Amino acid sequence: MKHILYLLFFTSILSAQTTLSPKVEAIYQQMTIDEKIGQLNLITPGGTVTGEVVSKNVNEKMKNGQVGGIFGIRGAKKVRQAQQIAVDSSRLGIPLIIGMDVIHGHQTIFPIPLGLSCTWNMDLIEKTARQAAREATADGLMWTFSPMVDISRDPRWGRISEGNGEDPYLGSQIAKAMVRGYQGDDFTDPTTMLACVKHFALYGAAEGGRDYNTVDMSKVRMYNEYLPPYKAAIDAGVASVMTSFNVLDYVPASGSKFLFRDVLRDEWGFDGFVVTDYTAINEMIEHGVGNLQTVSATALNVDIDMDMVGEGFLMTLKESLEDGFVTESDINEACRRILKAKELLGLFEDPYRYFDEERASKEILSDEFRAFAREVAAESFVLLKNEDDILPLEKTGKIAVIGPLADSRRNMLGTWSVSGDHSKAVTVIEGIREVAGEGVEILYAKGSNISDDPEFARKVNAFGPEIVIDERSSAILLEEALIVANQADVIVAVVGEAADMSGESSSMANIGLQPEQLELLKALEKTGKPIIMVLYNGRPMTLNWESENMDAILDVWFGGTEGGNAVADVLFGDKVPGGRLTTSFPFHVGQIPIYYSMLNTGRPNFGETAQKFRSNYLDIPNQPLYPFGYGLSYATFDYSPMVLSDTLFSNTSDIKVNVNVKNTGDREATEVVQLYVRDVVASISRPMKELKGFQKIRLAPGEEKQVEFTIDQSMVEFYNVDLEKVSEPGLFEVMIGPDSQRLERRNAILKK
Ligand code: NOJ
Repeated sequence: MKHILYLLFFTSILSAQTTLSPKVEAIYQQMTIDEKIGQLNLITPGGTVTGEVVSKNVNEKMKNGQVGGIFGIRGAKKVRQAQQIAVDSSRLGIPLIIGMDVIHGHQTIFPIPLGLSCTWNMDLIEKTARQAAREATADGLMWTFSPMVDISRDPRWGRISEGNGEDPYLGSQIAKAMVRGYQGDDFTDPTTMLACVKHFALYGAAEGGRDYNTVDMSKVRMYNEYLPPYKAAIDAGVASVMTSFNVLDYVPASGSKFLFRDVLRDEWGFDGFVVTDYTAINEMIEHGVGNLQTVSATALNVDIDMDMVGEGFLMTLKESLEDGFVTESDINEACRRILKAKELLGLFEDPYRYFDEERASKEILSDEFRAFAREVAAESFVLLKNEDDILPLEKTGKIAVIGPLADSRRNMLGTWSVSGDHSKAVTVIEGIREVAGEGVEILYAKGSNISDDPEFARKVNAFGPEIVIDERSSAILLEEALIVANQADVIVAVVGEAADMSGESSSMANIGLQPEQLELLKALEKTGKPIIMVLYNGRPMTLNWESENMDAILDVWFGGTEGGNAVADVLFGDKVPGGRLTTSFPFHVGQIPIYYSMLNTGRPNFGETAQKFRSNYLDIPNQPLYPFGYGLSYATFDYSPMVLSDTLFSNTSDIKVNVNVKNTGDREATEVVQLYVRDVVASISRPMKELKGFQKIRLAPGEEKQVEFTIDQSMVEFYNVDLEKVSEPGLFEVMIGPDSQRLERRNAILKK
């Protein structure tokens, strides 16, 4: 109880009250304490179940004013019914806020976020969120649980698929773009919706990559490397924040005063509302920090406003008020923040403004939206290997399309596409048939199952039949594949993960291809035919054998509704791949956590091979298989030596860094020019390189463009050991190149 009293003290000194419009203030003034607590309750009748509990007696509770919001339902009719209950049957008629996990598109599904991040195209990413908001708001929704901006450096963690990779700078740009896309600049515009940045905080650093597991991290790392994307979303004006399931300093995030009071509210000045993740308050009981009453009081006392599904607030806050564990002003303020969000959305003017059946029928999955999704998918693909320029393929001859993902509609959308309609997704074989045209003979064989293991399939198939074990034996599948392969000029092997082998509660210890798929590739390789591997994946995978033995590898993540067409566009060269990795692909799972911005250590390893008494492994290299920022194109690019306008910079003067990039290929293509900086000597050890800028440029064959970056003092700021944001004078290394390894370096000095 001691810490509850301590928190009460903080409550009383926190004075600023959320301001409501006169109309909403008048409603608020009539509210009973029960009705106020009711506003803090977020329920789901079961559309998106991500835990063991589903809300009960939903209609009853809405009538009784015991519900502030609902999620997991969509569609004008359904949502209208729910809203009508709240508006017509509850005492004060306060409308519900209606949310959903609109993560990478609403019904027109875009690539999974990890794939989307590989576009390095902020305008494009913003546009995907804008389009998702257009569809969702026509479908009755006004609040999305996105963007997910958790940095992760552990490909075993299934939810790495939902984030933007390993880098805080890139992650921050994407966080801003997503918030802008969903929210626009006018909340009352009925095509915009509230965004919710999640999961605050550090969810992506779960020990061992096991979902929901413990997180333990130094504050220096947290401030410099993990918090920036959340902060960027706050700075971009995100309306809400979701808590995370993990602990931080042994305190469950949903009860962390440090995170919510100190950092989010006091340091960052966030004045929107905070929602817990699914039953995260109740889970504090399992974390071992109290019973339902205590943990619910703790959550409110650290400034959490809304309780997702668990109903700890609903069941215990009144009692806690009577017992003196929470104050009325804290309940009031949480309620006011939620009312404020509803006011911003214009719900008190018109509770039904987000149901636009006419717009829904015109826009959702429209040709225009689908065409855009096809562009986006193609831009997200990363070409990892292209020996002898085997890609793009000619639209002639015989192509064998082989593999368990080639004709698997159920796996095209990827994880967290809750409103996506699988039947509307284009498969790879369909895309290839469509794009290749008459001149190509397409042969097809499944070749293998995604996995032959029924127990594994059962776990992966929690949301539907993604791994379908064929009635035919593995031997027959393989034989059929070889017959087809032997007739063809080239093999396109479509392999990888099922959609829900990544995502929530989908951690994996082995992140290579499943054994039966590897066996298939090995058998195909023996035919001597050239093989193009098209890889479906929600995480970086270990691909050592593949990288040596496949002629080309195209990583296509999960491209969404139009993914199959986009794969074909890229295979046949109608589109040139331009994606660049935003997570390192490990050489071996033993390297994890793996990321490019490592510290040097006191005993760095200077070469490729292990050296005694140096920081390395005896049996594997330190380097990843494919580094952060990496990706090939159908064109090639030349970088001129970089030119610095000066070698000195200060808090009043900057350095311009210029480099000329030339397309030396014969295709128009994009290149992502990347700028990294190293603080060579500082008061704490600093990463060997950190991304500080990038520009995606498009170049015609033979075209050369000058790319300019500005190095200034703010760019080299970091949090020191006392968590003060500082820049320290001295030597810096400026690096430019096409990925985090192929870099040209120059020195620069920050003056005192
Ligand atoms: C649990 C997930 O962690 C979160 O990201 C999601 O928004 C909620 N469930 C609601 O579906």
